[in-house]
Amino acid sequence: MRRPLVAGNWKMHGSRAENAELIDGLLQNLPAQTVAEIAVCPPYVYLWEVGRLLKSSPVALGAQSVCAEQVGAFTGEVSASMLRDVGCTYVIVGHSERRTLYHEDDALVARKFLAAQSQSLVPILCVGETLEERERGQTKTVVTRQLTAVLDVAGVAAFANAVIAYEPVWAIGTGKTATPEQAQEVHAHIRAEVAKHDAKIAGELRILYGGSVKAANAREIFAMPDVDGGLIGGASLKADEFLKICEAAQVQ
Ligand code: PGA
Repeated sequence: MRRPLVAGNWKMHGSRAENAELIDGLLQNLPAQTVAEIAVCPPYVYLWEVGRLLKSSPVALGAQSVCAEQVGAFTGEVSASMLRDVGCTYVIVGHSERRTLYHEDDALVARKFLAAQSQSLVPILCVGETLEERERGQTKTVVTRQLTAVLDVAGVAAFANAVIAYEPVWAIGTGKTATPEQAQEVHAHIRAEVAKHDAKIAGELRILYGGSVKAANAREIFAMPDVDGGLIGGASLKADEFLKICEAAQVQ
């Protein structure tokens, strides 16, 4: 049985006041028991304060990226041990915006994944194809390449403490969601790829869907057998919308 995870990726949004309002809206209206585990990933500068606001709540804290190095002269970077120190449980690695806008390649993403795990953070490894790649019929090839880059260096055992997020690039922030069937097809493929190495780990691995998930479409996507929750961008910035998405997650 896989407990779904719904993680809010706030990206570069928020302010101290807005964050406090959002967290208050979440915590005030959080059902006594949620099926899904819930996490929020604010920008680095707000992690500590948001973590304090979440204290003694069931909502977990995550970061949006991490440095591949552990410590030292890396101006502007934030290490995994720092994220751990301020209370993070999760960290997103390999988000398509990082891959595209900041030129993070598969090898760097793999190093970030390792850095996160070295400090007992749970990496949320993002994979996904561009529209061009989908149209060329390369979806599975691209996703396999992104996954294999990490599997090769971290080993399959690392996936016992990791989450994968399938995020088709063409669906991120565009309002275009993959159909539940399109998502399921890729999720099943990812699970099968991991199962080639270890069936038990693959069976327990949570694979989230991300890309224009909102309250109106979450239920049908999350109902697919290999979809174990979501990585939510825009819709995670409104407490009521995000909570509805969390409620839509089912145990598979
Ligand atoms: P979106 O973003 O929900 O705004 O499409 C998802 C993501 O980038 O993680």
